[in-house]
Amino acid sequence: MNLVIDQDRLVSEIEALARISDAEPPAVTRIVFTPTDLEARTWLRARCLEAGLTVRQDAIGNIFARWTGTDEAAAPVATGSHFDAIPNAGKYDGVVGVLGGLEAIRALQRSDFRPTRSIELILFTSEEPTRFGIGCLGSRILSGTLTAEAARQLTDSSGQTLEHVRRQADMHGDLESVRLDSGHYSSFVELHIEQGPLLERTHVPLGIVESIAAPASYQLVVEGAGGHAGGVLMPGRKDALCVAAEIILAVEEAALASGSSDTVATVGICDVFPGAVNSIPSRARLTLDLRDTDLLRRDRVLQTIQKKSQQVSEKRGVSIQFQIINADAPAICSSIVTDALIRSCSKYNLPFQKMVSRAYHDSLFMSRVVPAGMLFIPCRNGYSHRPDEFASPEDIGRGTLVLAETLAELSRCD
Ligand code: GLV
Ligand code: MN
Ligand code: MN
Repeated sequence: MNLVIDQDRLVSEIEALARISDAEPPAVTRIVFTPTDLEARTWLRARCLEAGLTVRQDAIGNIFARWTGTDEAAAPVATGSHFDAIPNAGKYDGVVGVLGGLEAIRALQRSDFRPTRSIELILFTSEEPTRFGIGCLGSRILSGTLTAEAARQLTDSSGQTLEHVRRQADMHGDLESVRLDSGHYSSFVELHIEQGPLLERTHVPLGIVESIAAPASYQLVVEGAGGHAGGVLMPGRKDALCVAAEIILAVEEAALASGSSDTVATVGICDVFPGAVNSIPSRARLTLDLRDTDLLRRDRVLQTIQKKSQQVSEKRGVSIQFQIINADAPAICSSIVTDALIRSCSKYNLPFQKMVSRAYHDSLFMSRVVPAGMLFIPCRNGYSHRPDEFASPEDIGRGTLVLAETLAELSRCD
């Protein structure tokens, strides 16, 4: 098998996809089910059809593009990622796994290789939580982690339900039909940029992920009392934003004090109501993103944050509602996939290091229904979720080569 990755074409496709964006270049913003997201999906389908793949879409908009193997009864091997992008993001997060996956299939097609198991490229819907508040929508529903009933209740910030928005976007059929049985796929492998600095720092070109840290997110709503910014004197105010400020600092303190650098906690949203310069904030809504490789430690940190929030609410006489959005377990990658990745790296004499994924990915949920694993490539300065996110063409090409080799191996039926 003579595998040659068309790195130039792949990079030019990454650039082309980046132009389908709601942000000024080099930033990329592509929120699920917006006209921009739908345009990008149409563009991707066309690339998949050009490659001779059979394309289908499920009711939540996950797209499956299949290169049919010689044994159609055998469970396919799958690869893929997402291409939705948070506001003001970069070009590579998720995209490398989608377009790299497509190029890996094309490289296999150009070689003399013919798969026994079909090879399927998956575009997952809304890995990012931007619109509906919860990440990995497509893979959560595929894996049965989020029920169709719970998914139907999700709303965006303008109050539109997911059910309404997806139907408007021409995604029909019941959400119940999205779930896949264990055994539907024989294995799943996702190529992704690292989104951290370790590979670059150690000058190792590839990372083989052994586990994915456990993410959780919560919403806190502080109800204080509003009023005139001039008329209401300072003593006795119930300023919801001042309460939020104390909580945000408590979040940072609790994560720093956990005893491990694997604990990370972020308040990424703070909405203030009514949001007027001369009005005391009566309500503040915060999101808390809390992650750890150790579930018990994550839970201890959460308890510390909740206790501190309770103390602040009593001290300042305000109420705080605490709502769990998701609290997921970590994933352990399957040795079926990690061993195949190791053999592929070795075949091309490419150094790799085993690592933990601190970001979450669709693989976190795919691992619940299929042996799954991930391959990381470096990104400059470890930057991600920002416009200057960058992965070099050489690193993207190397990752795609190893992905193609791994898909070839996993598509054999022994
Ligand atoms: C995925 O984008 C994450 O937030 O880890
Ligand atoms: Mn992301
Ligand atoms: Mn991603």
